[in-house]
Amino acid sequence: MNLLEQIKENARKRGKRIVLPEGTEERTLKAANILLEEGIARVILVGNPGEINRSARALGLEHIGKATIVDPVAHEKREAYAELLVEARKEKGMTRERALELVVDPLYLAVLMIKNGDADGEVAGARNATGDVLRPALQIVKTRPGTSVVSGAFLLLTERREFGENGLIVCADCAVMPNPTAEELAQIAVATAGTARAIAGIEPRVAMLSFSTKGSARHALVDKVIKATALARELAPGLVIDGELQADAAIVEAVSASKAPGSPVAGRANVLIFPSLEVGNIAYKLVQRLAGVEAIGPVLQGMAAPINDLSRGCSVSDIVNLVAITANQAGNE
Ligand code: ACO
Repeated sequence: MNLLEQIKENARKRGKRIVLPEGTEERTLKAANILLEEGIARVILVGNPGEINRSARALGLEHIGKATIVDPVAHEKREAYAELLVEARKEKGMTRERALELVVDPLYLAVLMIKNGDADGEVAGARNATGDVLRPALQIVKTRPGTSVVSGAFLLLTERREFGENGLIVCADCAVMPNPTAEELAQIAVATAGTARAIAGIEPRVAMLSFSTKGSARHALVDKVIKATALARELAPGLVIDGELQADAAIVEAVSASKAPGSPVAGRANVLIFPSLEVGNIAYKLVQRLAGVEAIGPVLQGMAAPINDLSRGCSVSDIVNLVAITANQAGNE
């Protein structure tokens, strides 16, 4: 069974309730139909029920009847959710009037459902930009205890089995935090190691990437990665981690032998931590487009509940896969 099939199989066993706030969006509806037909998750669609049912009929989607449909405008828990929102944001000046306006926004409603225990996770972003999906989540669900950073990991799958773990590499941050401090980078490393274990099912060997290997260059940016490596060791004493390493020293055995001899990670890294979002986002897109590497994600990590963001260019199967991943994360935060 390949990794994605395994993730879907685990999701089936877990029966998690995943809310899709873009319930009237065509790819989302098609994905919901597949999820329901294959029993991968219990689907909650947010949107006008008449519109959802009409679209489902027009598209010939026979399983949408099994979804729970939540009308954001005529929602029975509107008042309760508004109160919850005021409670979560009162220090930031949230008023009841403003909260009552926001709870009809599907992206706020979905997050409030999770906060209230009415859903286990969320997937959105087929229609909305990353920032708009993440903001309500960061404001209301917030980070899990012991973490102050939300970041986004990708599972990279290459046919070149000599790299990573049999061709699988988990990397971050590719999606959220533009310019992490050393402390934040250390948290991203530890969280990504957790994702590698929980979602990819591998024992992490973490490389903290830089343009320098073991002091080959001196610069404040290199110092940040060295400091982050030391801090990550403090946060997770048993973690197999090393840095600072260049990308070739991290994943190519022959290069590691000369640049970082004796490193427990160099040449064999299966988790790569990028020093900034610019590097991470550009690197994953380049390997995906130029080298045909399959990139699954972003898998958001560090949130108190699993909420994942799609690219607006996503396909139906991207949505199905990300819902399955979200269901795997639920309860493991
Ligand atoms: N981790 C934890 N909390 C965070 C994070 C984070 N990474 N970022 C923001 N927050 C919190 C803040 O502390 C704040 O909390 P508070 O209101 O309770 O004080 C709240 O979220 C809002 O923070 P702002 O800084 O006001 O949020 P803003 O909306 O400006 O930025 C965002 C947050 C949207 C995540 C921003 O950093 C961003 O746009 N990042 C880049 C996203 C992106 O475009 N990625 C590339 C595309 S994705 C892809 O290609 C796969």
